[in-house]
Amino acid sequence: MTTELSLLTVSLLIVFLYQLYRIGSRDSTLPPGPPTVPLLGYKAKFSSDCFRSIHLKLSEWARKYGDFYSLKMGPETFIILTSAKAVKEFLDMRGPSTADRPAAHIPEQVHEGYSLAFGRYSTALGSRWKLMRKTVHAILTPASVEETYPIQFAESVQLLYDLLHDPKSHFQHVRRLLVSIIFSVLYGKRVPRYESYEATSMFDLLHLEEQLFLPGAQLPVDTFPFLKYLPEGPLAPWKKKCRDLKGLHQRVYFGSLEQCKDRIDRGESVGCLMEQIFERYQKEFGLTWQEVSYIGGTLLPGGIDTSTSLLQGFILSPLPFECSIQPRNQKIADLIHKHFVDAIDVFTQYEGALQQEDKEYVARIRSSLV
Ligand code: HEM
Repeated sequence: MTTELSLLTVSLLIVFLYQLYRIGSRDSTLPPGPPTVPLLGYKAKFSSDCFRSIHLKLSEWARKYGDFYSLKMGPETFIILTSAKAVKEFLDMRGPSTADRPAAHIPEQVHEGYSLAFGRYSTALGSRWKLMRKTVHAILTPASVEETYPIQFAESVQLLYDLLHDPKSHFQHVRRLLVSIIFSVLYGKRVPRYESYEATSMFDLLHLEEQLFLPGAQLPVDTFPFLKYLPEGPLAPWKKKCRDLKGLHQRVYFGSLEQCKDRIDRGESVGCLMEQIFERYQKEFGLTWQEVSYIGGTLLPGGIDTSTSLLQGFILSPLPFECSIQPRNQKIADLIHKHFVDAIDVFTQYEGALQQEDKEYVARIRSSLV
């Protein structure tokens, strides 16, 4: 009996050690990729530098292994697609098997599965996610985008005005521009200053999102799920940050949606996208208030963060080519001032709910124009 028990224990131990050894190794059905070591998969040096230059490493491997290859990180497998042809073949032609996203524990704690950007196709909330996505497609049409051109034009004129008078703060001016455009389009409320509540809370929110969601920013809880059970504190700082971020989301998204609802109740709609969704959300789209809030909560950071980085990169891009900055030209300054005056009519449509400091700021700038 004792011998049989020992044999069983030794066999189980061998199976366990073999399974452990297999973690990190590449299955023979996977496309090729960088060599693996047991447990870790690819032997990466986890540092912020490693993630900063990851695009270079990925391009180097693409030259070696082709336009789709696999990368093992612990038990996780990543398939890297590095050409438009590979993306089309895997994400478009094989949509039914590649439509889902992998589990993302940290965003899940923040959005409770209601984010369009992190939500999953195959979970219990998958049908709600599809409904939210369908709503966005019904509202965000080419025609509705065209209707936003006057806002985009007017805000771009303020960008030029800000660059003209305070060129050193170009980073902030671009941020303000995009926060203001996206807030006006979504919630019918413009953001005239970088110090406005909407801009500061939005950038606090995006900063927290970066600390939580960027690859490598926190311990790899999805790859090693036991890490989820670490107690809140120095070992698991994301737990408190998730709560802080959730609170900020609720203040910004739920609060901005409440303002749209109040405007509709007062008969003062400005026709912004969230008002349109709000007017149809229950009967036509069958959404809950929380889902409507998270539609705004996906479009707002999604629209701001992406466009801000693109435009900031665009502004910085001539510098490596040693383009000289044009000296200030009075004709151009006059033209910008003229357009700024013309844009006031567009601005005022979205200034109904400005805070006192913002109202004073707007009045001060406008009095200096005439
Ligand atoms: C330069 C600016 C932008 C870039 C680079 C960009 C990039 C992307 C990417 C990569 C996705 C796919 C995400 C995924 O499915 O995981 C996406 C989806 C999406 N983006 Fe953008 N985006 C930009 C601006 C905007 C703006 C301004 C809005 C609207 C306010 C917006 C709304 C959306 C929506 C609704 C989706 C989901 C589409 C769907 O699933 O059918 N994006 N964007």
